[in-house]
Formats: sequence, C-alpha cells, structure tokens
Amino acid sequence: MAFKIENVNLVYDIGKEVQTYALKDINLALEGKRLIGIMGPSGSGKSSLLYALAGLKIPTSGKVYYNEAEYSRLSPSKCAELRRKDFGFIFQRHFLVDYMTVLDNVLTPINDDSKAAKVKALSILDKLGLAHMSGKKPHQLSGGQRQKVAIARALISDPKVVLADEPTASLDHGNAREVMNFLEGYKKDRMIIVVTHDPSILENADNIINMRDGAVTSVENRKGGV
Ligand SMILES: Nc1ncnc2c1ncn2[C@@H]1O[C@H](COP(=O)(O)OP(=O)(O)O)[C@@H](O)[C@H]1O
Ligand SMILES: [Mg+2]
Repeated sequence: MAFKIENVNLVYDIGKEVQTYALKDINLALEGKRLIGIMGPSGSGKSSLLYALAGLKIPTSGKVYYNEAEYSRLSPSKCAELRRKDFGFIFQRHFLVDYMTVLDNVLTPINDDSKAAKVKALSILDKLGLAHMSGKKPHQLSGGQRQKVAIARALISDPKVVLADEPTASLDHGNAREVMNFLEGYKKDRMIIVVTHDPSILENADNIINMRDGAVTSVENRKGGV
C-alpha cells in the first residue's frame, strides 16, 4: 500500500474575506507496512491530511493517489468501495451503536453474522481484553473499553490501512498505551496512520510527519526509510 500527495492545498471559505489553508503545499510519499504518526498542535491540519489521504476530503488543488489511483479520477462509488475494502477508520469519538451488543457493533462493517465472522470478531476482542464483554451494550462499558471496541470494528474487515484520528484522546495514559501497543502489534501486516497532538503515544512510530499551520514542517524517519 502506498500514498502519494502532490502539491496539495485545501482551502476553506474560498471567495470569502478570510481564507484558511487547512493544507498548504503538501508533498508526501508514504509506503509500506509501518506505523506513521501525524503530529502537530490543534488546528495544524492533521485531520485534514488524514481525510485527504482517505479520499474523504478533496483538495482545492493538487493530487492524492492511493496505490495507482488518483481520487479525483474515481467515481464516488468506486472511492467508497476502495475505502470499504482497504481502509479501517478509528475516530476520537467511538460512534458505536448503543442498542447493539459489542459483538454486533464489531461486525457492522462486514455485514456478516456467520459463525466464522463471529469467531474472528471474538478473537480481536480477546486480544483487546474484551471478549467477556461481547454481549454487553456500549453504555455498560468504560470509555476506554468503548474505544477498544471501535478499534476492533476498524480491524474486522482486515484493512490494509488503518487511519486513526486522535484515537487515544479520550483515554487515560494507561489505556492510551494499551491501545497503542495493540495497534503497534498490527503494523507488521498493515500501514497504520495515527493523528495525535501527544508525542508520547508515538514512541514506537517508524515515521512522524510534523505539521504546523497546514504545512508539513518535517518528516522524521525513526526506523526505516519511507
Ligand atoms: N469545515 C471547515 N470549515 C472551515 N475551516 C475548517 C473546517 N475544517 C477545518 N477547518 C480549519 O482548517 C484548519 C485545520 O483543521 P484540522 O485539519 O481539523 O486541524 P487539526 O486536526 O490539526 O486540529 C484549522 O484552522 C481549522 O479551523
Ligand atoms: Mg483534528
């Protein structure tokens, strides 16, 4: 899996007096199975970059490629299909369905309630220490447990790329570390991209993209080459 971003700008409020460059002249190439952090203060463009990578935000100018496909050349349905097949999303808020059990929440992205699918969901929940909670409803869980369920849900479809926007922001330090340990365990088969303003959760990242005011200020290479 590989992303390429060429001369990307994302501007809000075009035509108005005040314009915001959420992304400014971004050029990046991301490749391979690794953990990549996107770091910067609030408002620096981290989420915008993540959503541009996922094809969820179309830049004002410039090009974004996933493998060989340039998003603006794909139809919306093709784009949605690609995301469903290749990407898993984790958001700061978990967006679990409250009337469904933990197990059913994990199964929603694959729309499959076969025995095999349930076994797979339970094995992911087990790795997160939550198999015993599979029959509970989200409101019966702690905040940390709910976020772990959201992570299990993001992984059930075996995504090639996991895109996580501040996945640990609502967790205490211990739970944040546990979630990061778990994601780090997944990087040998996947590209994991984690947006955060907290450097401590990116201790084991292979690369860190530093952002400020919509621009990439540096790309750190911790363990291998991009
Ligand atoms: N829908 C929007 N309309 C106008 N401005 C926006 C919108 N979304 C984000 N922005 C602005 O774009 C900049 C980057 O935002 P964002 O990518 O959310 O940063 P981060 O995730 O680093 O906090 C900020 O100045 C933000 O206020
Ligand atoms: Mg953000």
